Amino acid sequence: MTLPTTSSAEPAPRSGGPTLGRRTMIAGAGVAAIGAVAACGGGGSTTTDNGGQAQTGDAPQGSPGTVLGPTSEVPVGGGAIFADAQVVVTQPQQGTFTGLSAICPHQGCAVSQITDGQIVCPCHNSRFSLDGAVVDGPAQRPLDPRQVTVADGSITLA
Ligand code: FES
Repeated sequence: MTLPTTSSAEPAPRSGGPTLGRRTMIAGAGVAAIGAVAACGGGGSTTTDNGGQAQTGDAPQGSPGTVLGPTSEVPVGGGAIFADAQVVVTQPQQGTFTGLSAICPHQGCAVSQITDGQIVCPCHNSRFSLDGAVVDGPAQRPLDPRQVTVADGSITLA
């Protein structure tokens, strides 16, 4: 099992405020997690007026079999962002885990926080519910599902 760690080589966030590790950002209901945005991916991205936030474009995502982390990192009524794998795992109810793409369907930014039971994209502030449905645009469609499995307290990409 690979636990999230903070690398000293990770880039500094571009905006002020507290930061969490680049690999995992966690927020429970009512608790804001303001984290560093995942690093930019490969080519194919376009620059927009996103306030310097990262866009991931066609960056690679975690592959099947990738261990994301322990279920204890995913709060009930909230979720965790596994930035390296570009996956969000939520736990709307105790013991129910939902895997979602961390890539916003609007213009491809990586979502950066989960607060008040909503997944937030930093680029244009689209908000998604814990099942990935659009709560507030400009995104027009939900976050793509990502299949995850849970066994022995560990979450793995299926
Ligand atoms: S990329 Fe525009 S809201 Fe996410």
